[in-house]
Amino acid sequence: MASEGPRARHVAIIMDGNGRWAKAKHLPRVMGHRQGVEAVRKLVRAVEAMGLECLTLYAFSSENWKRPEDEIDDLMNLMRKFIKSDLPEFIANDVRLKIIGDWRGLAPDIVAMLDDALAQTAHGRHTLAVALNYGSQQEIARAATAAAAEGEITPESIAAHLDTADLPPLDLLIRTSGEVRLSNFLLWQCAYAEMIFTDVLWPDFTPAHLQAALDDFAGRERRYGGR
Ligand code: FPP
Repeated sequence: MASEGPRARHVAIIMDGNGRWAKAKHLPRVMGHRQGVEAVRKLVRAVEAMGLECLTLYAFSSENWKRPEDEIDDLMNLMRKFIKSDLPEFIANDVRLKIIGDWRGLAPDIVAMLDDALAQTAHGRHTLAVALNYGSQQEIARAATAAAAEGEITPESIAAHLDTADLPPLDLLIRTSGEVRLSNFLLWQCAYAEMIFTDVLWPDFTPAHLQAALDDFAGRERRYGGR
């Protein structure tokens, strides 16, 4: 294991490939999403031992509303089940849940469940940030509007109003399934993040894959524009 070099504090993941995973196995798409939740669960259990302060996951984008209604229903139902079944484990394992995006626009029962989960995990030491109804351009526009209302618009004043303002700087972005794009995720926060794109489909992504990404990160030289 690489122990030299930078240690990541904050990793974000674009969890892609659930549909292709299901298709390859001749299963309905929902099975891919269900297996995707299993991958999330295993990862969350492993991050504490990896020394990560924050894991941010792209679970539902503001553009995902364009998907067929039954797939959206499946994803929302998986979300309901996940919060219900895993909240006690978050509390026991000192996980602080955080939600980024326009999540208050989700179904009222989900908003209520999330409000409760946020309150119950508020003092956790490790943050699991879940992006729900999230779009980075929308987040930046909201932050810039809030910054302008207070005074000058600067990189610092915008950053202070982003949904991620209380999180450590983003160190590493991972996207699964072979696509090489950001899809409106953490555009501002990625300014100096390292990036890893892997062909592994999200349901197949394990804590060992995350550890390999962290080892790769530890071997990189970060310059932030300097030399
Ligand atoms: C991309 O796969 C994945 C999503 C749009 C949703 C990600 C959601 C989960 C992993 C489950 C819910 C998460 C939590 C935290 C409960 P895709 O359907 O775009 O795959 P494809 O590109 O192969 O079709």
